[in-house]
Amino acid sequence: MAKNENKKELQSVKGMRDMMGDQYYALQGFFEKAQEICEYYGLQPIETPTLEQEDVFLKGVGEGTDIAEKELYSLKTKGRDKLAMRPETTAGIMRAYIEHGMHSKPQPVMFYTYGPVYRHDKPQRGRYRQFWQFGVEILGSTKTISDVMAIHLADLILKESGIKDITLKINSLGDSDSRKEYVKTLTAYYRKHVNKMGATDRQRMKTNPLRILDSKDEKVIEINKEAPQSISSLNTLSKKHFKEVLEHLDQLGIEYEIDHKLVRGLDYYSHTVFEFFTTPDKNEEGEELKPLALGGGGRYDYLAKIMGGKRDVPAVGFAFGVDRIIEATTKEIKPKVKKKPKVYFIQLGQEAKLKSLAIIEELRNAKIPVSHSLSKDGLSQQLAIAEKLGVTQVLIFGHKEALEGSVIVRTMKTRSQKTVAIDKLADYLKKTK
Ligand code: HAM
Repeated sequence: MAKNENKKELQSVKGMRDMMGDQYYALQGFFEKAQEICEYYGLQPIETPTLEQEDVFLKGVGEGTDIAEKELYSLKTKGRDKLAMRPETTAGIMRAYIEHGMHSKPQPVMFYTYGPVYRHDKPQRGRYRQFWQFGVEILGSTKTISDVMAIHLADLILKESGIKDITLKINSLGDSDSRKEYVKTLTAYYRKHVNKMGATDRQRMKTNPLRILDSKDEKVIEINKEAPQSISSLNTLSKKHFKEVLEHLDQLGIEYEIDHKLVRGLDYYSHTVFEFFTTPDKNEEGEELKPLALGGGGRYDYLAKIMGGKRDVPAVGFAFGVDRIIEATTKEIKPKVKKKPKVYFIQLGQEAKLKSLAIIEELRNAKIPVSHSLSKDGLSQQLAIAEKLGVTQVLIFGHKEALEGSVIVRTMKTRSQKTVAIDKLADYLKKTK
């Protein structure tokens, strides 16, 4: 096989990446922070399978959406089941809620979830085909406090992850009557401008007119400037719901912008919809780049029945694009497992090398983080690593110490040394830390 061909075959799939080193730790660190906040607020973890019956997503996200039409990774098994890789986690969690009869538990049932999702989208800045989502779902409550809690949690997690200038955009689609009314008004408006619209948006007039508000077509962007707003179609109950959500946000001091064009790319939303953006990045030429959504969500009171459930399950939630968050943050997010060692262990000679693992294990049991390079041999080589790591103490374990059952503890700053018996080592290090 030619060299180039070989290289091509051994590449990861387009839009999918290997996560290693700092990127891996940042993902893990973000998850730990988000998990800690969600646990504090009483949410529970859930992980649904990455593969589900295709219908869970086709019905769930809506057949006229980009995800269902273009982005779903679908497959047929040998047993002829039609499955799909999850493009998001909300529909799977609703499937689990219905399947496990969770309506009989105290409501609402509150979940957080984390893992990779798959969308066959065009890869570009901040857009991957496999990416990580962290999601929150509050199921079984119509109350506005649930909408506010979801937004509050999202806001908290972003701030604690070091995302500074956050813009929260919010809108309301109202209940199903209001939404129907809005779709009618909007369609009537677009009908007046249909001559200026391209084929895609014309098609959307039939399948999903709300999506035209997101159109990238210059002419349609102009048309959209005068398009009717969803809040003008809200009935009394829906208006009350939205007003209450905004009042709660005001009380919490969470700033927001009402964005009349925000309808979201998935079909299942009703009432509150929201998205979090960060301030626009600049490219190498100093031009402003389009701000990326770091997360989004909303209420989805009708999803359960759309998916074939027998009863309504009022619910609200959001999901973050974690890849985008770890790229946007200025803070180093480290997981708990990544402790900065204060001690570096140096071993010299075969006798010492063989006994090293037992000493390291003793220190691990005493919860003393220690760094080492057991495959290295020379003293100066290992000391240089210790200097680079900036540790406060090094442990030197040579042939003599291995025979005597002791270790030399050297304080880096003063260069003073002390020989300590192995069975006293952990205590000694704890005292001199
Ligand atoms: P979504 O807006 O489709 O919502 O996705 C949530 C977030 O995932 C986006 O704001 C973005 O940060 C990230 N994201 C989307 N596509 C990509 C991509 N191709 N590459 C990298 N990141 C991406 C949902 O998924 C809903 N399930 C949210 C929700 C939960 N609504 C109610 N509950």
